[in-house]
Amino acid sequence: MPVPFIDLSRLVRELRDEVLPAWTDCLDRCEFVGGPRVAALERELATALGVPRVVSCANGTDALIVGLQALGVRPGAKVALPNLTFWATYEAIVQVGAIPVLVDVDPADLQMSFDAFVSAHRAHGFTAATLVHLYGWASARLADFRAYCIESGVALLEDGAQSFGVDVDGAPVLAGATIGTTSFYPAKVVGGAMDGGAITVQSEEHEVLLRSLCNHGRAQHYSYARVGWNSRMSGLQAAFLSAVVRRLPAILASRRHAAAFYRKRLGGHANIEIFAPPAGVLENGYLASLAVRGKGGQEVVDALKARGIGATRTYPETMDAQAPAKGVAILHGDLSVSRRVTASIVNLPLFHGITDDECEEAAAALLDIAS
Ligand SMILES: Cc1ncc(COP(=O)(O)O)c(C=O)c1O
Repeated sequence: MPVPFIDLSRLVRELRDEVLPAWTDCLDRCEFVGGPRVAALERELATALGVPRVVSCANGTDALIVGLQALGVRPGAKVALPNLTFWATYEAIVQVGAIPVLVDVDPADLQMSFDAFVSAHRAHGFTAATLVHLYGWASARLADFRAYCIESGVALLEDGAQSFGVDVDGAPVLAGATIGTTSFYPAKVVGGAMDGGAITVQSEEHEVLLRSLCNHGRAQHYSYARVGWNSRMSGLQAAFLSAVVRRLPAILASRRHAAAFYRKRLGGHANIEIFAPPAGVLENGYLASLAVRGKGGQEVVDALKARGIGATRTYPETMDAQAPAKGVAILHGDLSVSRRVTASIVNLPLFHGITDDECEEAAAALLDIAS
């Protein structure tokens, strides 16, 4: 039985009867950009993410760009980020004219290493950082990152594109972020019907600034306080996302069940290293990530695909390996952990509605390859 890496149609089928009348209503009211459905979604997102305020925008990359600007990152500033993340985390720093400082990851949780972060701060004196909650969980040292940044005056942005629904010590991961971001790219845990994103904030001041930044730097109609961006959400997208957010408990249950299935089935095998969230972190089941000892990640993915199993590699290369980073980014240390992880990482099929039979098919193929 072939198993897709992702099948969005299972969620779409569940939402269809709820979304279509809402979309018809949006069309009838011409609610194309902004409007009451976008405002309602922002309130629903704030509740789900455990924060007082949320500002929606056009995608998760814009959310990072405006998030950095709201934190006061200016051209020429140095901004730390993990060497293992999605390229948008890097891109956003360069788009605001800042200089990326690449920091290695911790082999235990695959998130930015706190020790390397502190040593990079001493060596390079960055004034801001983007911490990424990658792979559907978060750093074991999250509290240390936040405390260190407050003590040392480092402005901390938290990229939560992959962490919607993650809890840390019983609270949503972005609840403690000064400014956090998320992405509604359709493949995400809360995925939209088109690109979308949001920024979480604690203060009214940040909310006002971010609303302005996302709307051409507007102060009032046709008067501008700053140079901003056009990064706004459609009512159609908000209607779809509200339906997804209403299903969040079921989505998380399905994804966590599949992640636990893989961990139980593959965890004891001598040749398989299956990655897991640190203690105190409840994953959202965004990805099932593992490595097969003695085999390269691409070799394993090719072998899975030959057996009809969809698989991918998040991510096959680090930030410092990308051509536009050469001679631009500051590299802290040898970055050997992130390079090693990218050489071997493999992601198995995992999506809302995946069945135990499909997980078993994927796990059996992986066991065959690893033996
Ligand atoms: C960690 C991370 N940051 C940022 C983004 C960018 O989000 P978007 O694709 O919505 O621009 C993504 C997802 O694509 C991501 O996984």
